[in-house]
Amino acid sequence: MKVLILSFSNNLVNEDSFIPNKIGLTFSCVKECEKQLKKSKNEVEHICINKKNIKKCNACGKRGWGICGDKHICIQKDDFNEIYKYMGNFDFYVFITPVYFHEMSESAKTFFDRLKRCDSFNDDSKIKGKKIVCIACAGGSGSGTEETLKAFDTLNYFLGTKMIGRIPVTKNNFESQKEIMHNAMKFEE
Ligand SMILES: Cc1cc2nc3c(=O)[nH]c(=O)nc-3n(C[C@H](O)[C@H](O)[C@H](O)COP(=O)(O)O)c2cc1C
Repeated sequence: MKVLILSFSNNLVNEDSFIPNKIGLTFSCVKECEKQLKKSKNEVEHICINKKNIKKCNACGKRGWGICGDKHICIQKDDFNEIYKYMGNFDFYVFITPVYFHEMSESAKTFFDRLKRCDSFNDDSKIKGKKIVCIACAGGSGSGTEETLKAFDTLNYFLGTKMIGRIPVTKNNFESQKEIMHNAMKFEE
């Protein structure tokens, strides 16, 4: 199977990280999922959305809809359309975000705002019906992971995807959550 991991943290290295070599928590989860997926012979690709040029949605057209509503692409010239099209090549998706202010990160919100617009009402969607796993990476308290995963439930509803796993991870439960992440990478219902 072909699996696409999208991550939404810039912190390859996080000085506050408890993980050896100071690897950020989001990126540590990316590596954990990647390792497991490769072990079971999946083809895996990882895109860090923070490294891409993704502008905010401008709600550019009449009544709040631009060409995203009928042409299912975005009028803006940046990296979004290419990534959106590329997503169609994969069987499963893993979305991994840090929790900021009890929400998914800014880069995640910006990306998914535009994905929802282009794909929610796309009869030829290549994303609809596919399975997703969502992982929310928080600080010590873990406060805001539920709100973040709830926002992924809403995204799942609009995209018409199938939520297979919603996983809260904190620096304190990372070790025990590894097994849950490993199980989720089987994409079983
Ligand atoms: C701007 C900002 C807001 C944050 N808000 C929360 C929060 O609401 N709840 C929480 O548990 N942790 C919060 N944190 C901590 C991060 O979720 C935590 O450091 C996480 O490990 C970040 O992922 P990273 O290691 O990939 O950077 C916040 C961190 C930042 C920088």
